[in-house]
Amino acid sequence: MDKRELEQTLVLIKPDALKNSLTGYVLSALSEFHTGLHYCGTKIVHVSRMIAEEHYAEHRGKIFFPAILEYLMGHSHYINEPWKQRVIAIAYQGRDAIRKIRDIVGPTNPLEARTEKPGCIRSLGTMVPLKDAEGNIIGQRMDNLIHASATPEDAEREMKLWFKPNDIPPLMHAYPTEQSREFYYFKKHILYRKHEPGCVCILAPADVAWKSDLETLRKISKGTPASGSLESVVAKYLINEKQAENW
Ligand code: CDP
Ligand code: MG
Repeated sequence: MDKRELEQTLVLIKPDALKNSLTGYVLSALSEFHTGLHYCGTKIVHVSRMIAEEHYAEHRGKIFFPAILEYLMGHSHYINEPWKQRVIAIAYQGRDAIRKIRDIVGPTNPLEARTEKPGCIRSLGTMVPLKDAEGNIIGQRMDNLIHASATPEDAEREMKLWFKPNDIPPLMHAYPTEQSREFYYFKKHILYRKHEPGCVCILAPADVAWKSDLETLRKISKGTPASGSLESVVAKYLINEKQAENW
């Protein structure tokens, strides 16, 4: 297949879209009929703090960072209903997938979306004032219904953050994979090669992983600098695991 046909992008239908029953509308706007793109992966995710922090890693330290974590984790829209706290993660594939989806999604700020691109998905979003402990307004959160990867680099990082290779049909893989030759375990932000009480096994020999993830794990286990964080590899293996916050 032509490599350009393999371009993939990550979409997250965020908790405000789920709460407002906009899922069908979003899926319809992004359907193959409108975009020419194909579904290659989908899952419903109860978002852990680990995956939220990794997803928005580029915003760490910014004033709105804590608020967007709470938003993605569903804490802002389903305050007392933790079982409803989830997003729908969808991977789309096809020529120009990243640009096509960002076009339909529209500008980040819903107010700008309404003036610059009426009818785009984010034009249905809203702005929420952010307050400090004393109740003073310190900024605004943009509840914009949907996430979509912005660049090829973001798309690769985000696809590998939310999806394991076997979440995607093998003929639709866009990134190299490799079979693990080792066991890898995780507990409290530490990687282990041997089982430790209370740890979780993230990879076993013969499991198929993203090649770049295995490179990161090998480097971390040798104590040499790695391009990705341990959490960026581990987070997807803990998706929807009951004990995820304890590991
Ligand atoms: O999502 P997108 O790539 O368009 O924007 P971003 O700049 O990467 O920001 C990530 C998300 O944080 C946005 O989609 C907004 O929901 C939120 N955000 C916010 O609440 N306030 C800002 N000043 C910037 C972003
Ligand atoms: Mg972004």
